[in-house]
Amino acid sequence: MCSIKALIFLTLLSVAFGVSYEGYKVYKVTTESKLQNEYFKVLQSSPDFDFWSKLNKVGHPLTIMVAPKAQKGFEHFLVANKIKFDVLIDNVERTIQAEKEYHRSRSTSKSGRIAFDQYYRHDEINAYLEQLAADYPDIVTLDTLGQSYEKRDMKLIRISSGSSDPPKPVIFVDAGIHAREWIAPAVALYLINQLVETKDNSGLYEGVNWIILPSLNPDGYEYSWDEDRLWRKTVSPGTECNGCDANRNFGFHWMESGASSWECSETYAGKEAFSEVEARNLRDYLNKTENIEAYLTLHSYGQYLLYPWGYADILCDNWKELDDLAHDMDDAISAVSGTRYTIGSSTETLYAAAGASDDWAMGGAGITIVYTMELPGGGIYGFDLPPEEIEGVVVESFEGLKVFGNYVAKNRK
Ligand code: ARG
Ligand code: ZN
Repeated sequence: MCSIKALIFLTLLSVAFGVSYEGYKVYKVTTESKLQNEYFKVLQSSPDFDFWSKLNKVGHPLTIMVAPKAQKGFEHFLVANKIKFDVLIDNVERTIQAEKEYHRSRSTSKSGRIAFDQYYRHDEINAYLEQLAADYPDIVTLDTLGQSYEKRDMKLIRISSGSSDPPKPVIFVDAGIHAREWIAPAVALYLINQLVETKDNSGLYEGVNWIILPSLNPDGYEYSWDEDRLWRKTVSPGTECNGCDANRNFGFHWMESGASSWECSETYAGKEAFSEVEARNLRDYLNKTENIEAYLTLHSYGQYLLYPWGYADILCDNWKELDDLAHDMDDAISAVSGTRYTIGSSTETLYAAAGASDDWAMGGAGITIVYTMELPGGGIYGFDLPPEEIEGVVVESFEGLKVFGNYVAKNRK
């Protein structure tokens, strides 16, 4: 994602030197042949085109920011070659200003209450969990995964109807391993909110216990608020660059594919497997907790429901079960307002990338129902879905998570 780095750099420059993105547009295009992909490879070397997503397999959408002077020619080129496109952002400068305004104007929540028209800081998320534990002691217990590198508490919530005879299957959901994917913790919080605070949903934890960890990389998350909105990694210090992609740091086929040994890379896998305390904390928790039958990790963006394996182009034994369930989840989500997910193994659907938490949950912890859920994107960069769009995403996603929960309750008792 060098182009995104370049954009941040340019954005900083624009503050210092008054450079502006006035009139820059962002296009989403989808190629339909290898030849078309070749055309875009050529554009990649022009300074007028800033690629915000990797040039991927044919059929994957590409996001490209185009300078005003190149737009006319670019649109002609797209039409002439019958390449489908949308204009995602009409004026990048206006969107950057609107985001800055949001950060300036937002008041913090100290009350421990929650709403879904804004994003929350790590402390606010923890305060909400504390509040729920105080208000709903019969169904909620708080626990901790441990502390992050910068000693933030990684609190998690267990939601259970109490009786444990016979023991119920446990579902583990986490979010926020990638700092900038803010919609992921929001969806985890909504899931918590709906399970705990809406009486009608109590059936969802009759046959299953939920453990939900809304913030798996709290240091990175806070850093993405204060310093760099596009920060993805942890913040552990390196010599040249800081941070490690925690989702490349798990010790299952570590570093075998789609991960970098270069510290400055966005997909730096760390000095060794489990070099990151956050990854170790998750490993230890999944190892010691009994009856975890399902693991789902929330990311953004792209609307994918992915199942193992992600380290190589190999399907896990029960891929068909996971594929069928993912289709049921997708149907429930799309019934809300039409959002559709792409379903498949991580490697076939996206790319091979080893050392991710999903692969470890299955290969290391032995959990059989495992997904990475890539939520919808939005905003300028895709990761910065505007606050007014949070509600729509959390509500529809919850429908999918219900189907997931009910399936586990029925099929893993
Ligand atoms: N976007 C996620 C990442 O790049 C996808 C991970 C999918 N899982 C996998 N094992 N490759 O980290
Ligand atoms: Zn991610």
